[in-house]
Amino acid sequence: MDKFVIAGGARLKGAVRVSGSKNAALPIMAACILAQGKTVLKNVPRLFDIEILSEILGKLGVSVKRLPNSDMEIQVIDDSKCVADYDLVSKMRASICVLGPLLAKRHEAKVSLPGGCVIGVRPIDLHIKGLSAFGANITVEHGYVVARAKKLKSAEIYLGGMFGSTVTGTANILMAAVLAEGTTIIENAACEPEVADLAGFLNKMGAKIKGIGTHKLLVKGVRRLKAVTYSIIPDRIEAGTFMVAAAVTNGNITIENCIAEHLTAVIDKLREIGVTVNKKKNSCQVIGTDRIKPVYISTLPYPGFPTDMQAQFCSLLSLADGISVITERVYPDRFMHVAELNRMGANIKKEGESAVIVGVKKLSGAQVIASDLRASAALVLAGLVAEGQTEITRVYHIDRGYEKIEEKFNKLGARIQRKLDKKLIVVEEK
Ligand code: EPZ
Repeated sequence: MDKFVIAGGARLKGAVRVSGSKNAALPIMAACILAQGKTVLKNVPRLFDIEILSEILGKLGVSVKRLPNSDMEIQVIDDSKCVADYDLVSKMRASICVLGPLLAKRHEAKVSLPGGCVIGVRPIDLHIKGLSAFGANITVEHGYVVARAKKLKSAEIYLGGMFGSTVTGTANILMAAVLAEGTTIIENAACEPEVADLAGFLNKMGAKIKGIGTHKLLVKGVRRLKAVTYSIIPDRIEAGTFMVAAAVTNGNITIENCIAEHLTAVIDKLREIGVTVNKKKNSCQVIGTDRIKPVYISTLPYPGFPTDMQAQFCSLLSLADGISVITERVYPDRFMHVAELNRMGANIKKEGESAVIVGVKKLSGAQVIASDLRASAALVLAGLVAEGQTEITRVYHIDRGYEKIEEKFNKLGARIQRKLDKKLIVVEEK
């Protein structure tokens, strides 16, 4: 297992190009189960989560071939397989995205329940509710969701849960609806850019989806979908993470391959904090400020402030000139980073689903543990600005969602070393 050793104090300057979106690539890869022929996906990030889904697709008779640079070739070889095993699904929750396409194309699916993770319980009741509406017979047996349907009939589905809509739930329902008989209406659909990208991909394959980017999707079922070439959108959360890096180090970073309109809420908050954000055609320049103003933030489904940027803003607001409050309305328990930031000198108190952040003058380097993807990013951001050295263990969490993260940061002037963590070498049982 690797760890990061970070020498703090650098003000980051220069340009960085963000990779393709993890959360768009994953459902789009799953959607290739629906295609006849060879799909070519471009701008697919090289990440641990992408590898896991590639392995799951392989076991489902779908060949996934990495091409040079960021391209990927996907083709269905054997469509008789319908089981996604626990040992792989439990490693990556988003694997649940194979449920909808398997049911639609192969009329049967047996997918392990993904289980929870440190950010929350992660239920899939809305996925099941939506797929059942098509007339599928769905049961939960021994930790697996088992779904069967001779054919799927269109339905009117409302996807509203206690915390708003569901991103991968909308993806699953969409991938089932495109081959269902008749016209399906999905109300309160998630409208994250990643869902819109999936819908764009499905329409290029021959699907008939209207309302893309809105909370109401109309899907006229078709008989078949063809394989196409498609380029994945840039990763808005990676872009947002680099924006915060510029802000927290009082630096000046140009983020290339960045779609500013995917980050409206984040840019709005950075400007409220006093950070300069110059939007350009395919990039954003972010310039830090000497005085970080405290703000109030509530995370919400898109286009609200993204929960995937909450931890990064905790790091930034730890150094604000005053008291900030961040309320987590999507994953109320998503605060594993708070204790680790406090070890670095931050003054954050968790109050129910909020973090009350009393700004401090400086953070100090310490040994900290990464717990999940975005919490790891928050700890890297804190390490960049902390006085002295920070050591972050279990950085495999960050490798799940950020491609070559230390290379990208070091090109901007950071001093991050990736080292083997001898204390955490797992000894294989003989
Ligand atoms: C997606 O997860 C993202 N992952 C997450 O990003 C992101 O944090 C999340 O959406 C919210 O934006 C991928 O796209 C692969 P949800 P997903 O279903 O789809 C509740 C990252 O860091 N809910 O939209 O699993 C749920 O508990 C990851 O890249 C139900 O109640 O999230 C949560 O409170 C972390 N019932 C809220 O809805 C359901 O059936 C949003 O969950 C489904 C969800």
